[in-house]
Amino acid sequence: MEFGRVWSRHQRTLLITMMMFKMGLLCTAAADTCLSSPCNNGATCVDHLEDYACLCPKGPVWYTGAYCDDLYDPCSLAPCTNCTSQPGTSAYTCHCPDGLTGLNCTEDVDECQSNPCEGARSNCVNGENSYSCLCPLGSGGEDCQGNVTTCSEETCQNGGTCMDIPDFGHRCQCAAGYHGMDCEENVDECSSEPCHNGAICKDRVDAYQCFCVPGFQGYHCDLDINECASQPCQNNGTCLDQVDHYGCDCAPGFKGEALLSYIWLGF
Ligand SMILES: *[C@@H]1O[C@H](CO)[C@@H](O)[C@H](O)[C@H]1NC(C)=O
Ligand SMILES: *[C@@H]1O[C@H](CO)[C@@H](O)[C@H](O)[C@H]1NC(C)=O
Ligand SMILES: *[C@@H]1O[C@H](CO)[C@@H](O)[C@H](O)[C@H]1NC(C)=O
Ligand SMILES: *[C@@H]1O[C@H](CO)[C@@H](O)[C@H](O)[C@H]1NC(C)=O
Repeated sequence: MEFGRVWSRHQRTLLITMMMFKMGLLCTAAADTCLSSPCNNGATCVDHLEDYACLCPKGPVWYTGAYCDDLYDPCSLAPCTNCTSQPGTSAYTCHCPDGLTGLNCTEDVDECQSNPCEGARSNCVNGENSYSCLCPLGSGGEDCQGNVTTCSEETCQNGGTCMDIPDFGHRCQCAAGYHGMDCEENVDECSSEPCHNGAICKDRVDAYQCFCVPGFQGYHCDLDINECASQPCQNNGTCLDQVDHYGCDCAPGFKGEALLSYIWLGF
């Protein structure tokens, strides 16, 4: 640092004093504003430029304000609208609106926690300040507590009788020949293959009908028609019953339509 020769001794002294003051080397009584002890309740006073600041105590009793005169109200910074507190502490209580919980009322209440939906097979769905119940068939109402009638005139088809079953729904008592949840299916009585000897089975309601191939008869086509019944062989020839035809074993000395000739009936 070089001072010009033009500076007088007095001027140099003043300049150096001002610079030392700026650098904090000279603390004058006037600069220390904390000396007057402006902060209350045990607060710490901090000099700041030509001013001061009070650092208020945080506990056991909390204070606030420029001089730490006021009891600290923790609700002033609490993130909820309905807040109560004990001034001078850091603890606050948020009074949450319905459906919210937690220190700051930020958590959703699980309304399903109390199992409001009745019945083992009902499902609770949590919502915002609400819940809804998914009820099993046969029950209904807000909490699945009511029995719901699921039977209507049309529920069971083909003359079936409908019965409401709580916690299940309905059950159909089907008329003979029908089955299925709603008696919508005609039982296929042909599935047990009741018709014999190559007959065609036709499914009916609670019944079947066999259409026999030639040579058989009976409800199940299980009877071989005896084509010898009419005694077609003459002159003591022996009749041989076959399927859908007969043969004649002619006695010695006779011949007719030839030995074991076949007379076809049908086909
Ligand atoms: C705040 O909460 C209290 C206690 O739960 C209640 O009595 C009061 O009505 C609430 N005030 C408001 C404005 O919600
Ligand atoms: C409650 O809010 C305060 C202030 O915003 C925050 O510091 C604290 O972590 C929050 N607590 C919870 C449990 O949300
Ligand atoms: C529902 O049905 C069940 C069984 O039949 C019965 O015990 C219960 O009382 C009924 N509930 C209502 C609300 O009708
Ligand atoms: C058939 O047999 C009977 C008794 O065996 C006999 O009396 C009759 O003469 C026979 N008829 C012919 C045509 O051979």
